[in-house]
Amino acid sequence: MMEGAGIRNGAPADREFVADLARQVFSTYGEYDRILPDCLDDPQFHTLVSELGDGPAGFCMLSIGDGVGEVVAVAVDPLQQSRGIGRQLMEAMVEDARELGIRVLVLKTATRNLCAQGLFRTIGFEETGRVAGYYSSGQAAIGMRMRL
Ligand SMILES: CC(C)(COP(=O)(O)OP(=O)(O)OC[C@H]1O[C@@H](n2cnc3c(N)ncnc32)[C@H](O)[C@@H]1OP(=O)(O)O)[C@@H](O)C(=O)NCCC(=O)NCCS
Repeated sequence: MMEGAGIRNGAPADREFVADLARQVFSTYGEYDRILPDCLDDPQFHTLVSELGDGPAGFCMLSIGDGVGEVVAVAVDPLQQSRGIGRQLMEAMVEDARELGIRVLVLKTATRNLCAQGLFRTIGFEETGRVAGYYSSGQAAIGMRMRL
């Protein structure tokens, strides 16, 4: 883990950061830069932000259901990737999910996103199935699930 990194709850003031990072990393999948910022104002979502010394570097967003949580996004600034921030965000989100009473976490990620799948598998997620054409741009997704 990088020195100086810390995790805090997301807030409406993070709209621009979330939109900018979503534009950078999710634009090939759909308009997540338009969708995700609104989740910061919605109590059905819980967001964690990773802060480096000079500003936010990543976020993870959870949709809170009845006993089930869906990790709707995890993203790290491309300049800061592969340094442990994504793993730290996911581990912190798993802890928060437990405290929120969530028993099962689910997520979808692009079938071809092997980097993210590697992260999710080592956290404890298992594949549940594949969905052709899941993303608005047509890419297939795999579903993953983790019992807490
Ligand atoms: C997926 C993502 C969040 C991972 O964050 P990160 O900070 O780069 O990841 P970490 O450094 O914490 O690495 C976690 C794991 O990811 C995988 N990983 C990270 N970088 C990788 C790379 N360059 N190549 C292959 N696997 C890699 C490894 O399994 C790694 O495990 P390790 O800690 O045992 O090495 C980040 O790459 C990202 O924002 N990608 C674009 C958005 C995205 O695809 N999000 C996931 C779908 S919602």
